[in-house]
Amino acid sequence: MLNIQCLNKIAEAGLAQLPSDRYQLTDQTADADAILVRSADLKELVFPSKLKVIARAGAGTNNIPISRCSEAGIVVFNTPGANANAVKELVLGALVLSCRPVIPAVNWIASLGIDPQITQRTEKEKSRFVGTELKGKTLGVIGLGAIGIQIANLAVALEMRVIGYDPYISVDAAWKLSREVQHEEKLESVLKKADFITLHVPQNAKTQNMINAEALALMKNKAVLLNFARGGLVEESAVVTALAEKQLRRYITDFPSPQLAGQSGVTIIPHLGASTEEAEENCAVMAVQELIDYLENGNIRHS
Ligand code: MLT
Repeated sequence: MLNIQCLNKIAEAGLAQLPSDRYQLTDQTADADAILVRSADLKELVFPSKLKVIARAGAGTNNIPISRCSEAGIVVFNTPGANANAVKELVLGALVLSCRPVIPAVNWIASLGIDPQITQRTEKEKSRFVGTELKGKTLGVIGLGAIGIQIANLAVALEMRVIGYDPYISVDAAWKLSREVQHEEKLESVLKKADFITLHVPQNAKTQNMINAEALALMKNKAVLLNFARGGLVEESAVVTALAEKQLRRYITDFPSPQLAGQSGVTIIPHLGASTEEAEENCAVMAVQELIDYLENGNIRHS
């Protein structure tokens, strides 16, 4: 019997894949042969002696000490693409909300309470909430992996001009990318041309703070920056300055941080990009299948 520890809530559909005659769940890390995790931070984890594999139900692995795992012979899997649709749909919502003042308008109407004049007031005051359209604007997609490709293709369907940047784009990914997406050789070109910039790269030593004061200064005046990838990609103090100087129009981030809280021009979402029932199931099923395939057949996927 092998012991699996879940360090986050993992969707039942995934756990149901574990044959009960060979696997059992444990809440004791010391007993774990395998760990299933979502976003819990494992950097300080003392590896139990039996631990063979960590499966991350999600794309990013920056919560896992990869080099310590390699040294200890512990295999790490992730589930690339399993939550891409969920992230894509939330990025679409964020793009729309960045140019249509729906949230202030909804708050305004709610503030009226039960007002017999609500219809008349709406027609009189709605001119305060006029927005702009995405069609014809330029979207810069930084990182053309499973998520970036879906967003780029969706934006093409919205009749946006789409430019992408990814020095490591795979042949498979390039085939899936709409021919309408213009591929830029240099990050600087995307920063200079885009009205909206969306980040879809992993956080690592190369990408940490890639959006710093220098990068922000290259952006179009009043550009909108969206970050549904990882908080550490963006130098937050530089973003706060760029917003104050009206260089950046809005920063929409899925990664709350004390430095950004309460800052005007910042929209903070509590890390909900992958939080749909479907994405949680997809990630859990893929993570558990990878884990079983490794433990039973020695197959290594998405490592
Ligand atoms: C991911 O890396 O795919 C997401 O951060 C997943 C999550 O929300 O746990």
